[in-house]
Amino acid sequence: MWDQVQETVNYIKAKTGFTPEYGVILGSGLGSFTDDIQIEFTLPYTEIPNFPVSTVQGHKGALVFGIIGNKKVVAMQGRFHFYEGYDMKQVTFPVRVMKYLGVTKLVVSNASGGVNPSYKVGSIVLIKDHINMMPEHPLRGKNDERFGPRFVNMSEPYNRSMIVKAKEIAQELNIEVHDGVYLGLQGPTFETLAEYKMVKALGADCVGMSTVPEVIVARHMELECFGLSVITDMGDEENIEEVNHEEVLKAAQTAEPHVRNLIKTLIEKY
Ligand code: HPA
Repeated sequence: MWDQVQETVNYIKAKTGFTPEYGVILGSGLGSFTDDIQIEFTLPYTEIPNFPVSTVQGHKGALVFGIIGNKKVVAMQGRFHFYEGYDMKQVTFPVRVMKYLGVTKLVVSNASGGVNPSYKVGSIVLIKDHINMMPEHPLRGKNDERFGPRFVNMSEPYNRSMIVKAKEIAQELNIEVHDGVYLGLQGPTFETLAEYKMVKALGADCVGMSTVPEVIVARHMELECFGLSVITDMGDEENIEEVNHEEVLKAAQTAEPHVRNLIKTLIEKY
């Protein structure tokens, strides 16, 4: 894997000559964040050696390189999910690539189902911690010490000072934010009522199908992480409204201007 990562990094460096400081992974319905970037290069995943190709509707499938404020960023427009059939090493491959392109801070966003009754559809949640209930671990197997240690400390998966800064910014911009614990399940089914209850009983505030493996791999390589979730459906009522992918995308798009503004300002100011 080390050699594959380096091959991909060398290809991208030769194409762009760009050294990003921030990596951004955009979740369902949040892809137009790239409108905030002064774009310098766009590389479709199909052109990048060793990259998987994204299959989900609403995910575009390109690496976008450019500037926000005075910061250099690389954004993944579309991510890879375990439920698409990739293994966890493929799902997290782009995070490895970002690291060796120069990224030191990773910003991830996602859509999730809320089980905390103080949330509503459209709520923005700053992820303060996660629970990994994915069926495969991205660090399983022989550890390559060049990436990081065998046993990774996960006491601060989401950087506390980035969360503090994001809360300050949200207040200045008059954007309501919550914080919460995100629980990662493989999907692709949305949860049953009993499963939403389980998620809540386990101590999580929201549940989704991404983010956790990416953050684990980012922490393996000591990237600072910031995660944000948009609640696209509520799973804590006796009668959940019917959830489907279209509703999820619609709800994510409603919150999108705020999310964009928050992430953009955080990157500019942090
Ligand atoms: N569950 C899991 N993933 C999700 C949900 C949900 O309710 N909403 C958006 N992504």
